[in-house]
Amino acid sequence: MDGFCLNQRSLLLICLVLSIAGCSSSPPQSTPQAPQTLQSTDAKPAEKPPSNSQQIHFDNEKIDLGKVEAAAEVPCAFTITNTGKQPLHVTEAKSECGCTATNFKGALLKPGASVKLDILVDTTMKQGPVTKDMVVYSDDPERPITRLFIAMDVKNAHGTMSMKDRTKIFTAERCKRCHVDEGVGQFGKELFEADCAMCHRKQESGILSGPLIESVGYSDADLRAHALDVIAHGSKNSPSMPGFLDSAGGPLSKEQVDSLVKYLSKKSDTAGSATK
Ligand code: HEC
Ligand code: HEC
Repeated sequence: MDGFCLNQRSLLLICLVLSIAGCSSSPPQSTPQAPQTLQSTDAKPAEKPPSNSQQIHFDNEKIDLGKVEAAAEVPCAFTITNTGKQPLHVTEAKSECGCTATNFKGALLKPGASVKLDILVDTTMKQGPVTKDMVVYSDDPERPITRLFIAMDVKNAHGTMSMKDRTKIFTAERCKRCHVDEGVGQFGKELFEADCAMCHRKQESGILSGPLIESVGYSDADLRAHALDVIAHGSKNSPSMPGFLDSAGGPLSKEQVDSLVKYLSKKSDTAGSATK
């Protein structure tokens, strides 16, 4: 899986450039998916001859949804085809963030058969260019794991974003189980691991959603006060960072929020004086 990480940033850039180049005057669009073409004439460089075993093929490995609304559920789909000679078992499709969800339960494909992988992207709390991924597992001996990408440019929802959208991550059952439940009753480092690390540390997929705050110097009192305010009440600049304090609609008590600030400033103390 690690081998795919490198591409994340350049892919995002490419998607950005493409959407700027392609959408300037056209209405919001979902990328038309090219009709399924299975001839070997559109061969990629150095493509191997068809193997004798099962072989997974995708109509598209990257979808660019173009401009999408915030707080919307946007459907998209990939088509998976068995271009090999033996039955192909597509075992699973999953994403790190449940905001890119699928009901796909696996499929057994005869040679030549296809199946659609339907995905629903929840753009709640997102803003600007975002790339999400979906990983597909199969018994193709040459390609057991494929990472598919979905790029989008989420319209700025500032001003129109309701409290309900901002705190959906804490209240909706299908968001809560990852973004809240693990942190219940935790403090300090354990709480950070449960509720914060997913956005403030680089993920296995290479996705990093927020700043690397563990290496910021929070020994400075002003910075610490700023951190406390953002953790408790959320960021004024980004919908991805909601207020975590209970009185602001979040799941954490005042003591839990304080313990996070303490963890972050301890962290920078041990790393030496990081303040200037
Ligand atoms: C299976 C666990 C899981 C579920 C369920 C889940 N998330 Fe996440 N979420 C993550 C992880 C892990 C990350 C960081 C990696 C990434 O962005 O893919 C993340 C990142 C995010 C981000 C920041 C990155 C971005 O895409 O802008 C937002 C916003 C977010 N989630 C919102 C939601 C919402 C809203 C829901 C419910 C509709 C939800 N999440 C459900 C695990 C989950
Ligand atoms: C869904 C993703 C997500 C989660 C979960 C999340 N954050 Fe954030 N956080 C962000 C983003 C994005 C920003 C940048 C916001 C901005 O630009 O103002 C941010 C900003 C911050 C900042 C301000 C950094 C600065 O210097 O301005 C702090 C402090 C912070 N987060 C702490 C936390 C803590 C502690 C948690 C866990 C309780 C947490 N965050 C959970 C996405 C997230």
